[in-house]
Amino acid sequence: MYNLKENSMSAKIIDGKKISKLVRLEWKERATKLKEKGILPGLAVIIVGEDSASKIYVRNKANVCHEVGLHSEIHEMPEDSSEEMVLKQIRSLNNNVDIHGILVQLPLPDHINVAKVLETIAVEKDVDGFHLYNVGALVTGNTIFPPCTPYGVQCMLEHIDVPIEGQNAVIVGRSNIVGKPMAFLLLQMNATVSICTSKTRNLKQYTSMADILVVATGQPKMITGDMVKEGAVVIDVGINRSDDGKLVGDVDFDSVKEVAGYITPVPGGVGPMTITMLVANTVQAAERANGLG
Ligand code: GUN
Repeated sequence: MYNLKENSMSAKIIDGKKISKLVRLEWKERATKLKEKGILPGLAVIIVGEDSASKIYVRNKANVCHEVGLHSEIHEMPEDSSEEMVLKQIRSLNNNVDIHGILVQLPLPDHINVAKVLETIAVEKDVDGFHLYNVGALVTGNTIFPPCTPYGVQCMLEHIDVPIEGQNAVIVGRSNIVGKPMAFLLLQMNATVSICTSKTRNLKQYTSMADILVVATGQPKMITGDMVKEGAVVIDVGINRSDDGKLVGDVDFDSVKEVAGYITPVPGGVGPMTITMLVANTVQAAERANGLG
């Protein structure tokens, strides 16, 4: 009798923790080479307010910096800090030669102008790649600081060694932090890129064309197995807390893994890669600051 089950293939899991470990070792070596020259790469993170998720992210960033042997410092500022106080802190870090990377954790409280804050970070220390100059550099294919999450996705794709050139890449989500920079990185790798949003009419028409599908909408489990092409590479950038307290992605893992060729889990997929690429950008900033990059 024909057995359907024998015929069904489950996707390969892209293990972000494992790839992160390998990549962190590479950057640890580069950081060690700098330290032998008397240069300690340093990252400063500014966090304004009490957002609990942001606090956890910032702590995780500091832990990974220490693991790789970087200097890291966290500047916690109260929720009611004025915009000028934040700008003053950034200017002081811009002038600090021991600090090579500056990151202002987002979101910021509503009374602070995010654009103004991001434009105040020195271009050569902008390890998030959010300054308009660095956004322009990304768009023109000359980036020195690819934003960490899409950079982490790019690194994952390189590790699993799937073809990208000429492939259909579909991104669901058009944020400045993930969707838009992801599109430009994939475009630079010669993929054919479509950007959709959670509002796209007949989203399935697009997602089912994707050889590479990157989802970053913040809507739990919105991409289901019937929306995915057989064998596709599915990258889930979402981190949502479900009603029972579990972390879930923007992709319905159980149904999509039956169709996709590769899939990232949540947690343990893109998350660890984001922090790893922050380390990469910080070490590179330190190399460049010393004429070594
Ligand atoms: N908040 C969520 N993701 C990010 C990020 O990549 N960088 C910063 N600065 N804030 C964030």
